[in-house]
Amino acid sequence: MIFPESSIPAVNVAQVPQRSPLRYPGGKTWLIPHIRAWLGGSPSPRLLIEPFAGGGVVSLTAVMESLVKRCIMIELDRDVAAFWHAALHEGKGLTERVQTFAPTRSNVEALANTAPRNLIEHGFRTLVLNRTRRGGILAPGASLSRKGENGQGISSRWYPDTLVKRLDAIGRHADRITFCETDGMQFLEDFACDLKQDVVVFVDPPYTAGGKRAGSRLYAHNRIDHERLFAILAESRANFLMTYDCAPEIISLIRLHGFSAVRVLMKNSHHTHLPELVITPKPVFHNPS
Ligand SMILES: C[S@@+](CC[C@H](N)C(=O)[O-])C[C@H]1O[C@@H](n2cnc3c(N)ncnc32)[C@H](O)[C@@H]1O
Repeated sequence: MIFPESSIPAVNVAQVPQRSPLRYPGGKTWLIPHIRAWLGGSPSPRLLIEPFAGGGVVSLTAVMESLVKRCIMIELDRDVAAFWHAALHEGKGLTERVQTFAPTRSNVEALANTAPRNLIEHGFRTLVLNRTRRGGILAPGASLSRKGENGQGISSRWYPDTLVKRLDAIGRHADRITFCETDGMQFLEDFACDLKQDVVVFVDPPYTAGGKRAGSRLYAHNRIDHERLFAILAESRANFLMTYDCAPEIISLIRLHGFSAVRVLMKNSHHTHLPELVITPKPVFHNPS
């Protein structure tokens, strides 16, 4: 059986404010209209938990647009975690590094081959590699962008003024954002019984169900027990929104737990439409029939 199409179309990412300094593979900017609709009722939820935060687009948007009061972002990758620690607690030092860096190939390679000396250097290294590697991929084996976007070379995605503005905005909201460098699955399991009515959970794990390779190529941490994740969410009775690709294993898990799902058609770089699933405990995005 095929799930109905969402009442909200996938948005062109140029139409929503870009809030994350990271250019994240599998980033969910296209989902922002769904997030606004999901969280937009009143009263607004007290807390959003994002156990697989990556570039953190959803958490940043929810806090900056006051869709929630606070958020907890969780990420296991230590390089990505260093970026978030630095952005939230060492914003001034990080923006200074952004403003003074010349993104030449030799400077980027030197940064990649040097162990960072402190938190600012570590977070800065993550940001530079993320914005200069092909597709923003940080996983082992990712290569530097050769021609860059529009043939402009390695620096084609390095916009210091824009990055500084995004980092400044994060700094202004840092008192409402908690970042935890830990296993998001374990976190969910440990706090499952505390996921009360005014707490919501946004879940965007690596897509590796059914042995798919996309998730394993994009992220260093990609081993997810999808069955366990579904079971934790079902047992917690949390108000969650989860995204997945349309893999047969995921369709069975949605059925097994009686969750609701809609399809959102995404255009990939070859302009073909790939459905992504937006999964919730109860119907949220169904067209009224
Ligand atoms: C699909 S990406 C999230 C993208 C994010 N929603 C965005 O818009 O940028 C999945 C993330 O989960 C992280 N991850 C994988 N396993 C994890 C785990 N057990 N705990 C926490 N994070 C994990 C990966 O490092 C990756 O950053």
